[in-house]
Amino acid sequence: MDKNLKLNLVIEAQKRLIENPRNWAHEITHHFRVLQLANRLVKKEKLNVNKDILEILCMWHDVAIKEDLSKRRDCETTAEYLAKSFKGEEKEIIYDSILNHEFGSTPKYIEGKVLQDADKLDILSLDRLNLDIEANEAGFSNAGISKKVVESILNEWLPIMPERYHFNYSKKLHRQRLKIVLPEFKKYVASSK
Ligand SMILES: [Fe+2]
Ligand SMILES: [Fe+2]
Repeated sequence: MDKNLKLNLVIEAQKRLIENPRNWAHEITHHFRVLQLANRLVKKEKLNVNKDILEILCMWHDVAIKEDLSKRRDCETTAEYLAKSFKGEEKEIIYDSILNHEFGSTPKYIEGKVLQDADKLDILSLDRLNLDIEANEAGFSNAGISKKVVESILNEWLPIMPERYHFNYSKKLHRQRLKIVLPEFKKYVASSK
């Protein structure tokens, strides 16, 4: 991949994530953590991936592109916008991986599978929970909504997450991270109104 294109896209993602984050759970540090987790997965599982594409996917997957007012899903507008900068196989991988990164979708390419696992693993992040709690306290976000999200993680997502991972190391990381974050999730749900 052309390094100029890659770096310009990474900078554009960072700028958009700082100026216009989707919300406090999907701001720039979520994207950095997903990138770190993705790199860790690639190393541990010895995966043969296109690292430039993977970095771009991790940095862009939750960037908000609100250029049209249609009711299309966010991941669809983001996938379409980002894919415009690419051709051929790269375009296809980038489009499919962003479009299908969310829970319940099935990405076709290895880069998309790594993104999806890393993104799920960042649900189990104390940093992310704490930032959201601070944003609630500061009045930047709604505690009721945050609490509902954590409740649905506890009741709906956690029971089915382990079977949805693409890689064994993801399952291992899930178990490790869950031990740390589970008591904090429960505490948060019990404490907030
Ligand atoms: Fe997402
Ligand atoms: Fe995400």
